[in-house]
Amino acid sequence: PQAKKTKIRHLEHLRGQRVFVSGWVHRLHSHEDSMVIVLRDGTGYLQCALSGKVAQTYAALTLTLESSVQLHGVLQVVPESKTAPGGHELSVDFWKVLGAAPGGDDALADKLNEKCDQSVLADMRHLVLRGETASAVLKLRAALLASARTSLVSHNLLEVTPQCLLQTQVEGGATHFELDYYGQRAFLTRSSQFYLETCLPSLGDVFCVQESFRVEQAHTRRHLSEYTHLEAELAFITFDDLMSHIETIICETIDRLLANPATAALIKQLSPDFTAPSRPFLRMPYIDAIQWLNAHGIQREAADADGNAILDAAGNTEMVAHAVGDDIGEAAERRMTDILGVPVFLHSFPAAMKAFYMKRLPAQDGAAHVLTESCDLLVPGVGEIAGGSMRMTGQEELLAALETQESVDVSSCYWFTDQRKYGTCEHGGYGVGVERFLAWVANRHTVRECSLYPRWPGRVTP
Ligand code: 4AD
Ligand code: MG
Repeated sequence: PQAKKTKIRHLEHLRGQRVFVSGWVHRLHSHEDSMVIVLRDGTGYLQCALSGKVAQTYAALTLTLESSVQLHGVLQVVPESKTAPGGHELSVDFWKVLGAAPGGDDALADKLNEKCDQSVLADMRHLVLRGETASAVLKLRAALLASARTSLVSHNLLEVTPQCLLQTQVEGGATHFELDYYGQRAFLTRSSQFYLETCLPSLGDVFCVQESFRVEQAHTRRHLSEYTHLEAELAFITFDDLMSHIETIICETIDRLLANPATAALIKQLSPDFTAPSRPFLRMPYIDAIQWLNAHGIQREAADADGNAILDAAGNTEMVAHAVGDDIGEAAERRMTDILGVPVFLHSFPAAMKAFYMKRLPAQDGAAHVLTESCDLLVPGVGEIAGGSMRMTGQEELLAALETQESVDVSSCYWFTDQRKYGTCEHGGYGVGVERFLAWVANRHTVRECSLYPRWPGRVTP
């Protein structure tokens, strides 16, 4: 009978039928007069048994891993005593090679293995992606993005696609990639926040999933030069609403992944101990966090006024206690979440260490620092995965704050400050680093594993 063309994922309903599947040879076991191919087509893995004449052709004897093939046969249920992906096996009666892959010294398995240098693996990322772990991470990434979108839409946020090419160099000048735009200076976006703010009066609450680009001198486990930024902006909310909303989106996104058998299996494969975080998340004001770090003996590297590390007599970086006004660095953040073992919102950071547009809390009598309605969400193993704040609502106040920004031409920001001129409102928003969120759920050592073709300082290929 005519074989039915199918993808591996859809085979379950075709047991006992004649089908044909195309894919790549993922694994290959040859015996005297038979052979087993584990086929991969991107939707799953299928065990295929070849015996008799079909296993003894020249093509069969010279078949190599990663060749593309088409296999025809009847799909058989395998007995419980044998294990096969999906619980079935294709009994092949006809097959052909579509594209052979090199064997011998050029075989993939010899080229790429755990002994390889990191830079070799990065150069060969297009082939590394064929591996079981790398492809599982990317499948989970797609599901995580879809799940987050479903949650955001269900909470009445509308998706928009802001531009990546821009000229207003707001947040932190030196951290933008600059380019020549028909003879004019332009930049790649670091955040779509300001565009989202301008959408509130026309579209209501909005979100976007957009690449953000950052000149980061940091070679760390959690910094990329280009990352996927999920950002949202909400009108007529309080700071408390904002934190609750972030928590809801993060938790619903995870719950949906765990409730779906296919995505739950990916999480189990990558991160066997992962469980949904319990709610509500801890909330800790920045000032309490400084005390907490000191009470737990977590110090920071001492630095001079230019930010250079201060060395002790033995040449080691000197460590000192945290003081109010200090940034909580990556190492301290990670130790904190490792001890707490659960997500935590750090909030109400001093204005001096946060972005100019953040809403300030009324100054407390005698307090040395003006605080802001800002929050960072930290999770175990990664640290900060999301940052957000309420925004200044007054045009005068915002203009004054913009004036303090180095290298910013305030008049060029009219489109953003006009949001306050034409009917201002209490509003706030946040940005989630998608690779960091995924690194947490998939238990990856670095965000580089969570990006298709990761970029970091010095790496912009393939
Ligand atoms: O904390 P950030 O810089 O906040 C903003 O850009 C706000 N304008 C967002 C907003 O309110 N709409 O960045 C937000 C998140 C961080 O918490 C982090 O998860 C991620 O973006 N992130 C990075 N991820 C990977 N590589 C980098 N270099 C990142 N920089 C920030
Ligand atoms: Mg941040």
